[in-house]
Amino acid sequence: MSFTSRSLLTLLAVSLLVCGSTWITTSIAEPAKPDAAVARTRKQVLMLDDLYKTAIVLITDKYVQRETDLPAGTAFKALFSAMKKKGWHEVRLVDATGEPLVEENAPADDFEKAAIAALLAGNPGFEQVIEKEGRRFLRSATPVPVVMQKCVLCHPNYKDVPEGRAIGALSYIVPVE
Ligand code: HEC
Repeated sequence: MSFTSRSLLTLLAVSLLVCGSTWITTSIAEPAKPDAAVARTRKQVLMLDDLYKTAIVLITDKYVQRETDLPAGTAFKALFSAMKKKGWHEVRLVDATGEPLVEENAPADDFEKAAIAALLAGNPGFEQVIEKEGRRFLRSATPVPVVMQKCVLCHPNYKDVPEGRAIGALSYIVPVE
C-alpha cells in the first residue's frame, strides 16, 4: 500500500471516529425539554419549605422553653399527617445524624438515604420525579440545620455539629399537576 492511500485510510478512520463520537455526544448532551409542571411543583415545595421551617423556628423560639414542652417537631408531625390525610402532599422530618430521637425518623427508603448523603455532602437539595399509578410526583429533600442553640436542649448530639451542616431534612412527596 502506498503512503498516500494509507494516510487516506487513516484520515477516513479518524473522521468516522470523530463523526461517531460527535453523534454520541450530542445525543447524550441534548438538554431535556423544560418541564413546566415539574417547575411549578418545585416552586410549591420551596413555598411549603419556607412556611414549615419559619413556623417551626418561630414556635421553638417563642413557645418551647423547657425539655418538657411540646417540641415543634412533634406538633408538625401531627400537621404533616393532617396534610397527608387531606391528600395535599406528604412531608417527613428525617434525621441526618444517624442518632434520631425517634427511630421512625431515620431515612426510610433509597430516596431518603441518597438525599441525606447528598445534603451531608453539601448539596442544597435533592430531588427525583417518580410515577405511581399513572400519576407523577416530585420527591424533594431540603436540609434542616441547627438554627438555634435551643435545639441542643433536647438533641445533645447537635452540640458538636459544624455550623451550617444538615442534622436533618424535610422529605416531600408532592403531586405534579
Ligand atoms: C423540647 C425538645 C426539643 C427541642 C427544643 C427541639 N427538638 Fe427536635 N425533636 C424533639 C423530639 C421529641 C423529636 C421526635 C419527635 C417525634 O418523632 O415524635 C424531635 C425530632 C427532630 C428531628 C427528627 C429526627 C429525630 O431526632 O427524631 C429533627 C431533624 C429535629 N427534631 C430537629 C430539631 C431542630 C433543628 C431544633 C431546633 C430548632 C429542634 N429539633 C428542637 C425534641 C426537640
